[in-house]
Amino acid sequence: MANEPILQLKNVKKKIGSRMIINNVSLDIYPGEIMGLLGPNGSGKTTTIRMIVGLLSITEGDVLIKGKSITHDFEEAISNVGGIVENPEMYKYLSGYKNLVHYARPTFS
Ligand SMILES: Nc1ncnc2c1ncn2[C@@H]1O[C@H](COP(=O)(O)OP(=O)(O)O)[C@@H](O)[C@H]1O
Ligand SMILES: [Mg+2]
Repeated sequence: MANEPILQLKNVKKKIGSRMIINNVSLDIYPGEIMGLLGPNGSGKTTTIRMIVGLLSITEGDVLIKGKSITHDFEEAISNVGGIVENPEMYKYLSGYKNLVHYARPTFS
């Protein structure tokens, strides 16, 4: 349904060692929305994104993509996600358009 969130963070926490890196982040993003994370270096943007796409475990809380948990239902949750975290490397033998098509295709199809 169009007014169901496409991405939800529910009380997400990340603890590394004894240090709380991400403390209780919750948000809802709806289809068609564009969202940016702003913050100084070291504030936790990359850590948050890595948890959203399942590259980093979540200490507490959950991430839901189209209602599916990235922790408990990874393949379904990630099946509509294309992600480049940190450095957008391009394949030089592909055109710009084909690079975009490659990164936009579902992870599992
Ligand atoms: N693997 C790790 N081990 C220990 N601390 C980490 C690790 N990854 C990130 N951090 C720490 O977590 C904090 C958030 O980092 P990060 O998410 O990379 O911030 P940003 O992307 O906003 O610059 C920083 O203080 C960083 O030093
Ligand atoms: Mg970063």
